[in-house]
Amino acid sequence: MAAAAAAALALCLFAAAATCAGAQSLPPPPPPKAYDDISSCLLSNGVSNFSLPSSPSYTPLLDASIRNLRFELPGVGKPAAVILPASKRDLRRAVLCARGASLAIRVRSGGHSYEGLSYTTENHVPFAVIDLANLNRVRVDPGSATAWAESGATLGEVYRAYVGPSLPDEFYLSTYIPTGSSNGNLSMSFTGQVLGPKHLAMSVLNQTFPELGLAESELSEVSWLESAVKFAGLSSVADLTNRQPGAGEYAKRKSDYVQAPISTQDTIKILRYMSSGPPGSIQLDPYGGAMARIGSTATPFPHRAGYLYSIQYAVSWNASDLDRAEERIGWLRSFYGFMSRYVSKHPRGAYVNYLDLDLGTNDWANATGGTSNESVARAAASWGERYFFTNFDRLVRAKTKADPENVFNNAQSIPPLRYDREH
Ligand SMILES: Cc1cc2nc3c(=O)[nH]c(=O)nc-3n(C[C@H](O)[C@H](O)[C@H](O)COP(=O)(O)OP(=O)(O)OC[C@H]3O[C@@H](n4cnc5c(N)ncnc54)[C@H](O)[C@@H]3O)c2cc1C
Ligand SMILES: *[C@@H]1O[C@H](CO)[C@@H](O)[C@H](O)[C@H]1NC(C)=O
Ligand SMILES: *[C@@H]1O[C@H](CO)[C@@H](O)[C@H](O)[C@H]1NC(C)=O
Ligand SMILES: *[C@@H]1O[C@H](CO)[C@@H](O)[C@H](O)[C@H]1NC(C)=O
Ligand SMILES: *[C@@H]1O[C@H](CO)[C@@H](O)[C@H](O)[C@H]1NC(C)=O
Ligand SMILES: *[C@@H]1O[C@H](CO)[C@@H](O)[C@H](O)[C@H]1NC(C)=O
Ligand SMILES: *[C@@H]1O[C@H](CO)[C@@H](O)[C@H](O)[C@H]1NC(C)=O
Repeated sequence: MAAAAAAALALCLFAAAATCAGAQSLPPPPPPKAYDDISSCLLSNGVSNFSLPSSPSYTPLLDASIRNLRFELPGVGKPAAVILPASKRDLRRAVLCARGASLAIRVRSGGHSYEGLSYTTENHVPFAVIDLANLNRVRVDPGSATAWAESGATLGEVYRAYVGPSLPDEFYLSTYIPTGSSNGNLSMSFTGQVLGPKHLAMSVLNQTFPELGLAESELSEVSWLESAVKFAGLSSVADLTNRQPGAGEYAKRKSDYVQAPISTQDTIKILRYMSSGPPGSIQLDPYGGAMARIGSTATPFPHRAGYLYSIQYAVSWNASDLDRAEERIGWLRSFYGFMSRYVSKHPRGAYVNYLDLDLGTNDWANATGGTSNESVARAAASWGERYFFTNFDRLVRAKTKADPENVFNNAQSIPPLRYDREH
């Protein structure tokens, strides 16, 4: 059931926003009349919840779901409007009004994008943010074990809506290692989750980590929903549906995949490198299990059999040391360079949820981003194949069919093959 829900959500994320929220009988779109300003277009089409830069509600609405504060700084280009559609009809009209006003469209669901792609544009292209916060319904159909989530729903709203499954081989263990050390010591922490009762967890731990000498009393048995609260670092189930869970952070992140075990000797070299670093961390997340049983071309996500774990690299800083940002990002990039010998190659894989614009960008120059066969090939070689491997080609073909004019684009969106207006 969880898998079905995730699949529905993924479908929704991959679909173009106008059709994503997706009902069958939508009213006809407004006439393709060109408006100079988006405000009059929205008003005359009955879209009432939006905010312009001159309005006092603009900054709070824009900043509400910015999680990476690097992209909240004054130097970052701001949208011409923040629009919050209240219905699929509003959503459709918002898209058409933005196009009519020659604004690029940035669709925002949770605002968690590591590179701020849901509320920024490249090359100072004017844009509007269409924020889906009010499209957050979740519908569960137990009969077909399917859940439909509108993409503005928080994960908490999704989790609340379905009953957690409990499958025998669901054992998860991630490793977290902070960088930087004052005395040459690094601490590592392990976070585990077993979808099953305590005694199942105990028997697995007894066999794999007998040196820990764990007692059953040291494990906590909670509902799946409560475990989600723990993983998110929240304090209560009610926090799961809160859209503003604490402050954002200034951070830069990158990712890798490991396919061959790293020797103890090499691990020591890596830890030594990390101990001289600025505040940051790496997190290792295990693959395998059910993930590895799905073919690498069965869905867009290719990192399946043969992948041992992913690495997430991070550095962060505070408002008080904004001037150290470049230095910290620079260190992260060198560390990433140092790691190249230990991780997946040809191509070096990356996790699409941990967007990293260092890998390359589309660099669109206007609202609908001109595209060419050359830019598609460049995207494939720089970031497309790292996130999607050979599935990138199929995504490009799907994009060419579904959005040939590239209405929905961003710095790392799937580019369509050349669209020729004459045909
Ligand atoms: C604190 C934190 C913890 C995280 N933990 C994890 C984790 O444990 N595991 C993991 O895999 N990832 C994790 N991530 C990464 C997260 O999964 C991704 O950033 C994901 O894209 C967030 O979705 P969003 O809707 O919040 O992002 P947004 O920033 O709203 O959108 C991301 C991208 O999708 C586009 N988009 C949004 N909605 C739509 C739509 N309806 N149709 C088409 N395009 C759309 C946006 O324009 C943007 O390009 C974490 C991120 C943060 C900030
Ligand atoms: C617009 O939507 C936001 C987000 O849900 C909400 O806080 C705000 O009250 C709405 N404004 C209007 C005028 O409806
Ligand atoms: C590292 O930690 C251990 C255990 O806490 C401690 O005994 C040791 O002195 C520390 N090493 C340094 C260099 O401080
Ligand atoms: C785990 O190992 C301990 C010590 O050998 C033993 O007492 C305990 O019964 C084991 N628990 C399970 C669930 O296997
Ligand atoms: C940010 O500031 C807090 C409080 O001063 C401190 O504990 C934390 O380590 C700082 N974080 C970074 C990344 O410098
Ligand atoms: C957008 O930019 C591309 C080049 O990046 C150009 O080919 C295309 O004509 C431009 N489109 C518009 C509508 O200006
Ligand atoms: C671009 O590639 C597509 C598919 O490979 C091909 O049909 C088209 O003719 C190419 N266009 C140009 C201008 O090369």
